[in-house]
Amino acid sequence: MKLDRLIAKHRQMGRTAALRAIATSRVRVNNVVTTDGHAEVDRFCAVMLDEEPVQSAERGLYLIMHKPVGWLSATKDAQHPTVLDWIDDPDKHTLHLAGRLDRNTSGLLILTNDGAWSKRLMASDFKVPKVYHVETDVPVPPEAVEAFQRGFYFHTEDITTLPAKLDILGGCLARVTLHEGRYHQVKRMFHRVGCRVIVLHRESVGALCLPEDLKPGEWRSMSEAERQSALASSAAA
Ligand code: URA
Repeated sequence: MKLDRLIAKHRQMGRTAALRAIATSRVRVNNVVTTDGHAEVDRFCAVMLDEEPVQSAERGLYLIMHKPVGWLSATKDAQHPTVLDWIDDPDKHTLHLAGRLDRNTSGLLILTNDGAWSKRLMASDFKVPKVYHVETDVPVPPEAVEAFQRGFYFHTEDITTLPAKLDILGGCLARVTLHEGRYHQVKRMFHRVGCRVIVLHRESVGALCLPEDLKPGEWRSMSEAERQSALASSAAA
């Protein structure tokens, strides 16, 4: 929401009056005087007018987990424990997953309570790459590279997958880069080229790689730099 609108709404004043208050340095956002009435603020910003709180900041949670095979990538499930059960944070009930991994997939999992941020991470228009390391039951045929680039039509969703980069690493090993996250997408794509995925591991999201010191089952808060890097367009960026 724009800052002038937030002030107007919470202080029952018109937007012109709110803009004037902002322009005359009466407003602080996260403790910094802000004179731009059109600045974007969200629920994670603390906003003060004349030293009185207009909105207090909610605590933003940005977590990174090394999901092991076997854990369910969900926030609740009637039958099975979920990744959330392993997280020890008083606000964990506010979390959602920024992109699921199948139960038998391991690797980088991101949890947050910032819907706007996770939407950008997952929306195909922002083209955030997700990189998976794959092991298949039979060698990946060379023609799969072009097929992945062309895309596959998925009848159930009535969509064609976006161009994906496939690197055949030799024999049954490959690395695939997607810019979207459809249901069982990697497995379904490999199935189309005659391969069954037997091991699947997510290595990175944007420029954020699964940290080497994060062992399977471990999680921690992201640093600000990691949060920025998740939105960057490539792991090499
Ligand atoms: N594609 C899959 O098939 N499974 C995952 O867990 C992630 C991507």
